[in-house]
Parts: sequence; C-alpha cells; structure tokens
Amino acid sequence: MKVIIQNSADDAARLAARIIAGQLRANPALVLGLATGATMESVYAVLAAMHRDEGLDFSRCRTFNLDEYVGLAPEDEHSYRHYMNCHLFGKVNIGLRNTRLPNGTAVDLDAECASYEAAIKKTGGIDFQLLGIGSNGHIGFNEPLSSLRSRTRVMTLSPATISQNQRYFENPDMMPKRAITMGVGTILESKRCLLLATGSAKAGVIARAVEGSVSSMVPASALQIHPRCAVILDEAAAAGLSEKEYYRWFFDHEPEWAEYH
Ligand code: PGA
Repeated sequence: MKVIIQNSADDAARLAARIIAGQLRANPALVLGLATGATMESVYAVLAAMHRDEGLDFSRCRTFNLDEYVGLAPEDEHSYRHYMNCHLFGKVNIGLRNTRLPNGTAVDLDAECASYEAAIKKTGGIDFQLLGIGSNGHIGFNEPLSSLRSRTRVMTLSPATISQNQRYFENPDMMPKRAITMGVGTILESKRCLLLATGSAKAGVIARAVEGSVSSMVPASALQIHPRCAVILDEAAAAGLSEKEYYRWFFDHEPEWAEYH
C-alpha cells in the first residue's frame, strides 16, 4: 500500500483523476472499476474536463461500478446509475453499453450477482478500481464483518451507512436498506486500486484502515494485502496517521510517482 498525502481535497481529487487518465491513455481498452459518493464527484468533474479540453478518450473503456441499491430503477434519481450518468457517463464519450452497474431491480438478485461476477471475469478482470471509504470502513457496500473473500452479493446496510447516506433522500425512510455490492474478494482481484478519502470525518477510519490490523471489522483494511494499492488523502483525512513523514518521503522519492509531482 502506498499513501499519498495532498494539501487539499481538490489536489487529492485532481491527482486521482490524473492517475486514472494516465491508465486510460496507456490502455484505451481499460476495464475501470468505479465508485460513487460525494468524494468522487470532483474526480469525475476533472475527468469530464480532461475529456472536453484534452480529448481524453473513453470510447474503448469498459466500466463496472462497485454497487447499486436494491429496488431502485436506473432512472430513479437516487440510483447509482443515475449518479454515474450525471457525473461522468453523460459528460464523456463512453457508450452506455460499455458501462455496467448491478441491476438492483433484478427479480433474481442472486442470479444478478453471479452474472455481474461473470461479466467482470469475461473482460479479463478489472484493471483499475477506484474506491471511497465509508466512515465505518466499508468499501463498496461491504459493511463491517464482510468476509475478506466475499464476492458480489446482496448486503444489508448498516445503521452507520444508512445515516451517512440518508441525507440524499428527501424522505429518509425511502432509502433502501439493502444493496448489491462487489465483494471484498472481488475488489482484491483488481490489478490496481486507488482509494480516495478527504475531510476530517474520515481521519479516524483511515488510521484504522491503513495502520491498523487487517480485520473484517474494517473492510478497507483488506487493501493492505492488495499488491498494488494507492491511498490518496488530503491533510484532514491523513490527520490520524502516525507515519505521515515516511509516506511523504516515499512519494517524493518513488520513481513511479515522479510524473505526478
Ligand atoms: P462519500 O462516500 O464519498 O460520500 O463519503 C464514500 C463511501 O461511503 O464509500
């Protein structure tokens, strides 16, 4: 795991977007794993601007999102399909047929989960997975105690996640209590991954995920065993880390990151 600390949330999002753009330029047929949430909005805004101003090409890229609420149709404004169309897919040259999210309205949810896993496998696997982190340590909707080998499945959301995300629903009771999510095992099979977290509300959970023990109580801590995982933070989200100077030194000296200084 590599930890990169940026001065501000904007700088952190910009760096994440530049890394994704670099991956896409190196491999235009990239299989990209995507995330939703407030943190990702600025990443997608930068990618959309790169498409508009620099011609960043998404035409051959295929995407798989981490999760979708059970029971919300794609056209529902609270669905993650709607979020992705608004923040990214509608602003770049990607064909919607190349974008996939779990279908939260499938009649047979278990079959949908199996077919999602099969579709990822058929592409050869996710080349690059973007991740956020919930205040309870979830990645995707893998809530505490998710098996570190879990696959795409239906998850009952935790009270912490419900209270974190209810603010998006005019009527909080309308927020679904279940979601389909890629599993921790699915995420760990991505060839590279990048977790982005900003703001002081994430400082505690980032300290546990990055410097604490690997534990299913903090599903993001499983990323410690991913062979190529970068964690990009702003100063506020990094505030609880004890080895910040080492991480800064590493970023400054690592040839792989030279182009991103
Ligand atoms: P946030 O969500 O970006 O809205 O904080 C992240 C997550 O819960 O994964």
